Amino acid sequence: MPLNIEDVRKQFPILQTQLYGRPLVYLDNAATTQKPVGVLNAMDEYYRNYNSNVHRGVHSLSQKATDAFELVRKKVQEFINAKHEHEVIFTRGTTESINLVASSFGKRFVNKGDSVIISAMEHHSNIVPWQLMAEERGAKLKVIPITNSGELDLSEFENLLDETVKLVSVTYVSNTLGTVNPVEKIIAAAHKQNIPVLLDSAQAVAHLEIDVQKLDADFIAFSSHKMFGPTGMGILYGKEKLLNEMPPYQGGGEMIKTVSLEKTTYNVLPFKFEAGTPSIAEVIGLGAAVDFINETGKQKIIQAEKNLIKYALEKLSEIDELTFIGTAKERAGSISFLVSTHHPFDIGELLDKQSVAVRTGNHCTEPIMSFFNIPGTVRASFSFYNTYEEVDKLSDALNKAIRILG
Ligand SMILES: Cc1ncc(COP(=O)(O)O)c(C=O)c1O
Repeated sequence: MPLNIEDVRKQFPILQTQLYGRPLVYLDNAATTQKPVGVLNAMDEYYRNYNSNVHRGVHSLSQKATDAFELVRKKVQEFINAKHEHEVIFTRGTTESINLVASSFGKRFVNKGDSVIISAMEHHSNIVPWQLMAEERGAKLKVIPITNSGELDLSEFENLLDETVKLVSVTYVSNTLGTVNPVEKIIAAAHKQNIPVLLDSAQAVAHLEIDVQKLDADFIAFSSHKMFGPTGMGILYGKEKLLNEMPPYQGGGEMIKTVSLEKTTYNVLPFKFEAGTPSIAEVIGLGAAVDFINETGKQKIIQAEKNLIKYALEKLSEIDELTFIGTAKERAGSISFLVSTHHPFDIGELLDKQSVAVRTGNHCTEPIMSFFNIPGTVRASFSFYNTYEEVDKLSDALNKAIRILG
């Protein structure tokens, strides 16, 4: 049975709210998704009933918090089909996950003259950490170019793969263009030369099924807040062997086995990479978000979204003044566009006044803007809880904005 979207929407308090006296049309899901009551309640219950630090106390509250916290690791392991629970590292988000790998993998495996491959469609958080690392290690960044349709130029990618390359780090789904990259092909080509691959899965996690063993990805990074969970929480999945070889990222409590003033020995995985008190409530919230997705059904979510995106593309194509930025065949989540020669910001403001929330600007992907030679885009990004009626409202609001701006 397909999903009853109205029933789904009832679980999201914010989707019942109004903006400027009209129902909110939230189309900024690539920036962050809304949270269902299950997530809100799980966090509230933790703070009200068993707020306590984890892994530290023998007292009952601490044990209850630790059990709830570690249960989420298991849930995430199953959610992404990781082989081991300790391959799931809790971080503050995709950004921190990528910084962790850039810093730690870089120290262990990247030397002067080596290189890392990224692509021209990366979010800044999958560019800057590698630039910082490359500068520190005397390494280079190589970049997979994109085509006019906003897809990766894979023939160029194969040419970049040589013996200097220590890692490939690319996005699974572009937050700006909506492109779903052929990551299976990228991983296969890199692995042929024993080069590990990190997938920035910040966008992919809400829109696609992720099976790290099937993908054979070496690292994946994603954020809880883009999959109906709270902010301040993210995941780094890494293959056990690689994580074991990498040095700690940050020092502090939890990541140690023994400390003397002369020397410290480090804890085992995953704790080696989890210094300090973690975001306990947020981890528990993420667990509830995973439950929500599982109970709703990932395949049903994916199908509902596919249908909605198809409809949105058709509906927006009817607006003559609109130009799509990114026309990849395989896509998910985001639709970026420009309207006549109007600045995206002006369009975004006029949509907001009509209760339609979209994002405008470069979406933390300045190199994409440079490639298309544009100041930014208007981006409508969808979740499965959006409706066909909301797509119509977006289209009507755009037509009105066009009339106003002339
Ligand atoms: C593709 C992609 N990578 C990385 C990030 C960074 O995620 P976060 O800000 O949650 O760390 C985002 C956020 O928009 C993203 O869309």
